Amino acid sequence: MTPDVKAFFDQATNTVSYVVREPQGGACAVIDSVLDFDQASGRTDTKSADAIIDHVKQQGLRVEWILETHVHADHLSAAPYLQEQIGGEIGIGDRITMVQDTFGKVFNEGTEFQRDGSQFDALFKEGDSFHFGQMRGDVLHTPGHTPACLTYVIGDAAFVGDTLFMPDFGTARCDFPGGSPKALFNSIQRILALPDETRVFVGHDYKAPGRDDFAWETTVGEQKELNVHIGKGRDVEDFVRMRDERDATLGMPRLILPSIQVNMRAGQMPHEDDAGNVFLKIPINKL
Ligand SMILES: [Fe+2]
Repeated sequence: MTPDVKAFFDQATNTVSYVVREPQGGACAVIDSVLDFDQASGRTDTKSADAIIDHVKQQGLRVEWILETHVHADHLSAAPYLQEQIGGEIGIGDRITMVQDTFGKVFNEGTEFQRDGSQFDALFKEGDSFHFGQMRGDVLHTPGHTPACLTYVIGDAAFVGDTLFMPDFGTARCDFPGGSPKALFNSIQRILALPDETRVFVGHDYKAPGRDDFAWETTVGEQKELNVHIGKGRDVEDFVRMRDERDATLGMPRLILPSIQVNMRAGQMPHEDDAGNVFLKIPINKL
């Protein structure tokens, strides 16, 4: 079955969010939403999320799932806001517990921060499936960028998060805690084993040399043939060497500190203090 896919591109964080709906009927899933955040002022905004809400309402859709491909390090998730406005269950990979454990320590979150994934409504593991309307989604555990990354295969469409990017841009970094270029290589092989005509929807786009427009949709066949990091049968040693060299040159994402603190809580802010204020932490010399 071929779902209808509507993309929402956030230029501030280069993130692509998706609303995936069944071809007949109004059931849908939202994947990788964005809560706008201005770090300088500490202010959040719901402009990006409201665009999704408007679309859902205009189309008369019924949101059954609000899915995350992983704990994002470059934008805050709008999952709780979307859930409050339009419903849906919030799902992520069950290895989120590893990410919570690592960053619970980095941010010294103490015992009130649960590291069992219980902030989410559903924790998916390899081989799980889920449904919305007539659509079935299958879960592939595709670690490498982070240990908890998932790919959601819904009909003929694969939502690969930060594993593969557009063929002319390549693949995601693997230098965050728990990341592994070897694991990413193996995960990508599993995505490339899907039928060639499978539509591939990526989690980010940064353009690429010689390309003027943002893009986010490609196919397994195109990735196999053209991906500059992995295409045409590049071997694992070569890939790991390339990834390690490239990752060593990359700075931390601009919003990594706020993003992880919020996203590891399923998009919730840390608890308010007695006066109702909310704070995020900046750990010094930890990352
Ligand atoms: Fe990411």
